Amino acid sequence: MSELIVKAENLKKIYRLSAENIAAVDGVNFEIEPGDFVSIMGPSGSGKTTLLDMIGCLDSITSGKLEILGNDVSKLPERKLVSIRRRKIGFIFQDFSLIPSLTTIENIQLVLYFAGIKSTKKELTKLLGKVGLAHRMNHLPKQMSGGEKQRVAIARALATKPQFLLADEPTGHLDSENSQQILNLFKQLNQDNGLTIIVATHDEKLGSQTKRKIYLQDGKIIPE
Ligand SMILES: Nc1ncnc2c1ncn2[C@@H]1O[C@H](COP(=O)(O)OP(=O)(O)O)[C@@H](O)[C@H]1O
Ligand SMILES: [Mg+2]
Repeated sequence: MSELIVKAENLKKIYRLSAENIAAVDGVNFEIEPGDFVSIMGPSGSGKTTLLDMIGCLDSITSGKLEILGNDVSKLPERKLVSIRRRKIGFIFQDFSLIPSLTTIENIQLVLYFAGIKSTKKELTKLLGKVGLAHRMNHLPKQMSGGEKQRVAIARALATKPQFLLADEPTGHLDSENSQQILNLFKQLNQDNGLTIIVATHDEKLGSQTKRKIYLQDGKIIPE
């Protein structure tokens, strides 16, 4: 059997504030296998972003165990966590997180630079074609629609050929038509390339289209 993408055992994240402790993720157990397409669902404040940030090695865990691509994250030195973040995981955020002064292709080249990966213009053109943006290669973010910006962000996430994609409310700033297009792109990447995708959303209509759903409420997994 091939290596699991994610394995969480009694995983917790407690934010310690002066007045109180908040259990943002409160003892969750789950596994994500290669080729999976999972939505993390639940209302605002249920812990989706906190869980995604831990899976993305963007935030530490408080207790329990979290394995990413076979690595126990709490035992990894920062250097290794950085390498996993930059080379193994593709990130997509609600606000697109593009650099405003850089064109489509430059935004992509920047993450490739930090990942230490070389890519030719031909490869990047092909990649942009895949997300339907070959004609937007030299545009700045402000010259594109929200849906186009999110497709740039998806191309950027794919450019490093990551082991899996993490998308936090990727359609939160899009209208329903553009949201559906983004979801169709995810479906296509999952079906055609076997890419593992984990998407947090509070949108039931989008979440219901993934292969599998994990529902969170107050930091705990609840049955569907
Ligand atoms: N950095 C933080 N410090 C303190 N509390 C936080 C922090 N981030 C999130 N929380 C709290 O953790 C809980 C879960 O938040 P979050 O993971 O953002 O949920 P969701 O993404 O589902 O809206 C909320 O109660 C939120 O207020
Ligand atoms: Mg969130």
